[in-house]
Amino acid sequence: MTNKASARAYSNMALIKYWGKRDETLILPANNNLSMTLNRFYTTTTVTFDSVHKKDILYINHKEANEKERVRVSRFLDHIRTLANTTDYAYVSSWNEMPTAAGFGSSASGFAALAAAASQALGLPCDNTSLSRLARQGSGSASRSIHGGFVEWRKGVGYDGMDSYAVPVAPRDYWDLALIVVPVATERKLVSSREGMRRCAATSPYYQGWLDSAERDFVAAKEALQAKDFTAFGKIIEANALKMHALTLSADPPFTYWQEDTLAVLREVETLREAGTSAYLTMDAGPNVAVLCESGNIQNVQEALYDLDGVGGTMVCRPGPGLTFLDDDG
Ligand code: PMV
Repeated sequence: MTNKASARAYSNMALIKYWGKRDETLILPANNNLSMTLNRFYTTTTVTFDSVHKKDILYINHKEANEKERVRVSRFLDHIRTLANTTDYAYVSSWNEMPTAAGFGSSASGFAALAAAASQALGLPCDNTSLSRLARQGSGSASRSIHGGFVEWRKGVGYDGMDSYAVPVAPRDYWDLALIVVPVATERKLVSSREGMRRCAATSPYYQGWLDSAERDFVAAKEALQAKDFTAFGKIIEANALKMHALTLSADPPFTYWQEDTLAVLREVETLREAGTSAYLTMDAGPNVAVLCESGNIQNVQEALYDLDGVGGTMVCRPGPGLTFLDDDG
């Protein structure tokens, strides 16, 4: 058994959002959700467990991580140490291939790559289901980054979280779609997704309505995916994202991830559709907008967004691959 391993995982964008937990500790989602793994943004991580270390050491993009990041990773590694019955600390080196301008959090790809590298280093099971369950406990959305293409994360019903993991729905070459990421600048400190969903679940009078409709959206989106009905799919995923964002305004205290420039992008997508280009948007817990379209429409969408104030260029993502283990140091 070697105590060193490397893995790479790609980021993903939720198309039916996970927003609310049924268990805070195990990170179990309150609703089934669906994502597309992205080919442009990824994390490569090498983990070495060694009894010489006095604590876990974390480097991100060749810089020592801050204490908050280190503690989060260390807590996650504690789960893995318990499973492997070891007390050895780890040296973790991560590379995030993610332009800061993309506004992407690296937690999905980061915890998926870490779960895989650490599991392999300690000889734990490395099948996709075990890794997805484990990655979930670092960051919920990381459970989906184990797989490529289109992915669902099953909320499960059990109390122990064993039935809550991600499974592939369709491979990356199934549908020639593009997700065009439109970064929108923000100076405000964002409410973290963890805090944002907790607040919405605890205080929004619309939360139960969100959950009921998210389940319907999930079923309808999978049907549209199966039928490759882009208009139906686009309408569902856009409405789902807007419903998630509507919850934030009804929380106590209320908040929003939107900035002034977010609205301009939203309007532009509407204008594009009026002019005959089929494109639909989604947004995560931040001000950026991501526009989903079929390949033939990429240029139309990019041109329309190009001249908008506050938009710092666009990035075209395609369905990406699943997790890979690397033989060398990444
Ligand atoms: O897994 P987290 O804690 O980063 O939360 C993800 C929340 C959303 O990105 C808004 C939705 C999702 O399903 O990824």
